[in-house]
Amino acid sequence: MSESLNLRARVARALLPLLQQQGSLSSVLPNALSRAPERDRPLMQQICYGTMRFWFRYEALASLMLRKPFHPEEQDVQILLNSALYQLDQLQAPDHAVINETVEACKQIGKPWAGKLINAILRRFQREKSELLQQAQSLEGYRFNHPEWILAKLKHNWPECWQQILVANDLPPPMCLRVNLQRVDRDGYLRLLAAAGIEAVAGQHSAAAIYLNQPMAVDKLPQFSAGWVSVQDEAAQLAAELMSPAAGMRLLDACAAPGGKLCHLLEHQPQIDIEALELEPRRAVRIQENLQRLGLNAPVKIGDASDQEWWNKRPYDQILVDAPCSATGVIRRNPDIKLLRRNEDILTLAAQQLAILGNLWGMLKPGGTLVYATCSIFPQENERIIERFLRQQSDARLVPIEADWGIAREFGRQLFPQPTGHDGFFYARLARMQEA
Ligand SMILES: C[S@@+](CC[C@H](N)C(=O)[O-])C[C@H]1O[C@@H](n2cnc3c(N)ncnc32)[C@H](O)[C@@H]1O
Repeated sequence: MSESLNLRARVARALLPLLQQQGSLSSVLPNALSRAPERDRPLMQQICYGTMRFWFRYEALASLMLRKPFHPEEQDVQILLNSALYQLDQLQAPDHAVINETVEACKQIGKPWAGKLINAILRRFQREKSELLQQAQSLEGYRFNHPEWILAKLKHNWPECWQQILVANDLPPPMCLRVNLQRVDRDGYLRLLAAAGIEAVAGQHSAAAIYLNQPMAVDKLPQFSAGWVSVQDEAAQLAAELMSPAAGMRLLDACAAPGGKLCHLLEHQPQIDIEALELEPRRAVRIQENLQRLGLNAPVKIGDASDQEWWNKRPYDQILVDAPCSATGVIRRNPDIKLLRRNEDILTLAAQQLAILGNLWGMLKPGGTLVYATCSIFPQENERIIERFLRQQSDARLVPIEADWGIAREFGRQLFPQPTGHDGFFYARLARMQEA
């Protein structure tokens, strides 16, 4: 049955679980793409990402042309409509193809009644585009393209720069590489890229970072399978540099999958004894794959960083807590976050983050260092966690981070997503004081 679906109907089918909070782009799209004809896959991927990235914009625009909002059971029709408006407004595909296929897709998903409505709305958009776009400027959903709760939080917390954050969130993310400096220096790898005709520039903050001018498939990167290079955002690369462990140290990477920072730590200092901990067995498989490709070794434990069942009672010199978070610093990479996250998740996440920190603290040697990281841009998950933790833990001290990236906060350092640079991130460094 699904074999005969057209591309737009496939998009509606693929995205419906996201609207129902039952999947994410990264969990549903690979499977949906693999069932589509090969020639359709690049456009289908582009439409799925674009529809999610601009969901709130085109939902607002559509509301100008609808007499009443769609019923929850008609979310697949809303997907078809938002997605067609996105295509007519932003893609090069011919209008008639977008409209005809979307109307046909209504039948294919079992909603033939919607074809007439969608046809009328899309043709009206074709005729009155500039007036409608002008009118839509009065709607916050159209202007800011974010859910109200995220918008309110950003305005409240970052009155100086919330608009820049919104803009960066809606841009396609750059592809950033981390050069394995054990294999090749950064200039050497830049030369390899140039020889292969791949345009790229060095990052500004991490010594191993390279930005590609255009994203590309990893298997086309020189020496990728030989482990010379990995894909990792530049902000994420700062963890290893902040920790800079000495040879012989014993480390824990407490929330480790898929292993990006773990592998970077081992590339940075191969003579460390580092354990990886991950709650989800399926995600832990990714750690093993990355270690293997890079020719690295580390024991990977499955366990919960907020309990001690997995711990062998040997304390650590350094601990990295790359905590589960709202991922609001990486919305441009995962635009579906805007639909999947809820305001109430932030309180739950903050409780988890504090529980993980409190539990791991006892595993750190006196004199040891813990780095707390998130890819969130909400203070509730970042500086407020560190503030609350320092109030609870009398032997914890904040070690300020002097750096040329992000902005200094009272309790840590915050990075915001940069249009052609790093993602949004947060770091704080804590030391456990020596016993008196
Ligand atoms: C932000 S990701 C880590 C990214 C990773 N450090 C890297 O650089 O590739 C957070 C990870 O923590 C895991 N996680 C969530 N809660 C956890 C817990 N209580 N204990 C251990 N791991 C947890 C998640 O499954 C997820 O893989």
